[in-house]
Amino acid sequence: MDVELRIMKNSTKIQLGQNGPFVSRLGLGCMRMSSIWGGSTPDETESIATIQEALDRGINFLNTGDFYGAGHNEMLIGKAIKGRRDDAFISVKFGAVFHNGQPVGMDLRPIAIRNFIHYSLTRLGVETIDLYEPSRMDNSVPVEDIIGTVADLIKEGKVRYIGVSEITADQLRKANDTHPISALEIGYSLADRQIESELLPTAKELGIGIVAFANTAEGLLTGEMKAPLRVNDYRNHFSRFQGDNLLHNLEKVEVLKQLAGDKGCTPTQVAIAWVKAQGDHIMPLVSMSRRSRLPENIAAMDIVFTPEEMNTLNTTFAPGAILGGTYLQR
Ligand SMILES: NC(=O)c1ccc[n+]([C@@H]2O[C@H](COP(=O)([O-])OP(=O)(O)OC[C@H]3O[C@@H](n4cnc5c(N)ncnc54)[C@H](OP(=O)(O)O)[C@@H]3O)[C@@H](O)[C@H]2O)c1
Repeated sequence: MDVELRIMKNSTKIQLGQNGPFVSRLGLGCMRMSSIWGGSTPDETESIATIQEALDRGINFLNTGDFYGAGHNEMLIGKAIKGRRDDAFISVKFGAVFHNGQPVGMDLRPIAIRNFIHYSLTRLGVETIDLYEPSRMDNSVPVEDIIGTVADLIKEGKVRYIGVSEITADQLRKANDTHPISALEIGYSLADRQIESELLPTAKELGIGIVAFANTAEGLLTGEMKAPLRVNDYRNHFSRFQGDNLLHNLEKVEVLKQLAGDKGCTPTQVAIAWVKAQGDHIMPLVSMSRRSRLPENIAAMDIVFTPEEMNTLNTTFAPGAILGGTYLQR
């Protein structure tokens, strides 16, 4: 491909890591297409159609975990990409052990990683996983052994690039010293800004791309949440969504709604666009379980903020402004 064509093709893309892959600027999170924390499985036909329409619209980055629905999520992606493997860039997290919708631990022993990948390749129906990531670190296994095992899988042609997820800055350095890390998958939103103090600058210094998830902070920033949540809503377990915390947090969201309304866009679009605006190396990874989400969220990638708008968002949602936590509190 000549240089000009390559630049044109890549202008709608983001490079993950210094020598890493070019992928779509917006990623499709597939997690909520399977039952994660218990509950029923969303409509499979719509989920597959959503993945396929995302690929048609140029979103090639698909994110899953082998524990999402105990393998269901990978099989879903396998069905959606059948006959069009090259259109998709597949990122898979591994190592978390879940039972009945509850995490019961991590297993990142080298032999376990080798077990995980072979099942993932089979469920996805592919020869290679594009980005393979331990979903958390496992304190009983050195970082070097975990990353070293994935590096061996690259030599064997089963993995293309290595990512990590929800780790500390020290662990990130160790991992990158073992083998170049292309991407750090991490929760980041107006409501969760803790990574700005250390992890984000460390990733930037090391030239590692950011795959930023939970842009809507479990739906808080969509502007659609009302207090109190329904009794069977899983978010009731998080202090952020309880009692006075929720009332306080929804007042902050009113500012977001106002700003979005004045700008002619939706609160979710503003939440996604704010994440993207935090750096050229940051890719928003958004859950979308239905096709109707795609046009709105894709359009968010073209939203820019005036300095005044950015100031309003950064002061309203200054670190600590949102009360209470979710599973993301590190
Ligand atoms: N590494 C990790 O530890 C980790 C943890 C969690 C998630 N992830 C990955 O990151 C992805 C995103 O994370 P997430 O699901 O926690 O956060 P998210 O992208 O903020 O999604 C939360 C909710 O927002 C809804 N939504 C999306 N677009 C919307 C719109 N335009 N208007 C209103 N609501 C909208 C989605 O609904 P619908 O589903 O109904 O479309 C979803 O239920 C996951 O799919 C998963 O792949 C990684």
